[in-house]
Amino acid sequence: MRIGILGSGLMGGKLGRVFARAGHDVVFSYSHDKAKLERLAREAGAGARAGTPREAAQDAEAVLLAVHWSRVNDVLKQAGSLSGKVVITCSLPMNRSDTDLVVAHTSSGAEKLARKLRRAAVVSAFGTVPSEVLFAVFEKRKRKKRPSLIYCGDDKRAKKVAAQLIRDAGFDPVDAGPLRMARYSEPFTLLIAQLAYEGDEGPALAYRFERFEERG
Ligand SMILES: NC(=O)c1ccc[n+]([C@@H]2O[C@H](COP(=O)([O-])OP(=O)(O)OC[C@H]3O[C@@H](n4cnc5c(N)ncnc54)[C@H](OP(=O)(O)O)[C@@H]3O)[C@@H](O)[C@H]2O)c1
Repeated sequence: MRIGILGSGLMGGKLGRVFARAGHDVVFSYSHDKAKLERLAREAGAGARAGTPREAAQDAEAVLLAVHWSRVNDVLKQAGSLSGKVVITCSLPMNRSDTDLVVAHTSSGAEKLARKLRRAAVVSAFGTVPSEVLFAVFEKRKRKKRPSLIYCGDDKRAKKVAAQLIRDAGFDPVDAGPLRMARYSEPFTLLIAQLAYEGDEGPALAYRFERFEERG
C-alpha cells in the first residue's frame, strides 16, 4: 500500500518505519525539521521517503494521522483533499497540556474528525498502544500469539485496510465496532498512558502490557 504519514513524531515516526519494513511505500511528513523526515525515511529503508503533507496524502491509499489534537486542523489544511482516502487516526483529543481529553463520553476525537472529513473513511486505530512497544511488537510479529489491538470505524473497506496494517505491525486486530466506540477506547488510552508514564517505572509498564498479552 501507499501510506502517507501526517505527523512524524513518536507514533508516526515509528509506525511509518514499521509499515515500510512490512513492505509498504511510506511518505513521512509534518515535522519542524526536514532533515529529521529524511533521516526517518533513510532508516525505514527502500520504499520510504520524506515529503510535504500534500505529497504524503496525494497518492496514498491510507494516511496515518499522528499529530497532537491542537495541530489537526493545520496538518489537514496542508494535506489538502483526503476525499476517498482511508484516514487512520491515532490522534487523541487532548488539551494542550496533555492532562485531559477535550472530547469524551458523548463523542470522540475520531467522530469529530469524521465530521470534518466527510468524504474520507475514518478509522480509529493504534491510539491504544504506547509508541514504546511498537518496534518490539513488530520484531516479534511472526509469533503465533500476538498482542491484540482494537480498532473501530464505519466503513467496511477502510476497516479492512486498517486491519491489514495492524496485522503488518505485529498485532492481532480486534474489531471494536462502529466509530462511536472510540468514545470508550480514547479514555481507555488515557488510562494506559497515565499508568505507563506517571507510575514510578515509567514506560516499563507499557512493555508489561504487551508481555502480559503474549502469555495469553
Ligand atoms: N506517543 C504515544 O505513545 C501515543 C500513544 C497513543 C496515541 N498518541 C497520540 O498520537 C498523536 C501523536 O502523538 P506523538 O506522541 O507521536 O506526538 P509527537 O511525538 O509530538 O509527534 C507530533 C509530530 O507533529 C509534528 N508537529 C507538531 N507541530 C508541528 C508544526 N507546527 N509544524 C510541523 N510539524 C509539527 C512534530 O514535529 P517534530 O518532529 O519537529 O517534533 C512531530 O513530528 C497524539 O494525538 C497523541 O495523543 C500518542
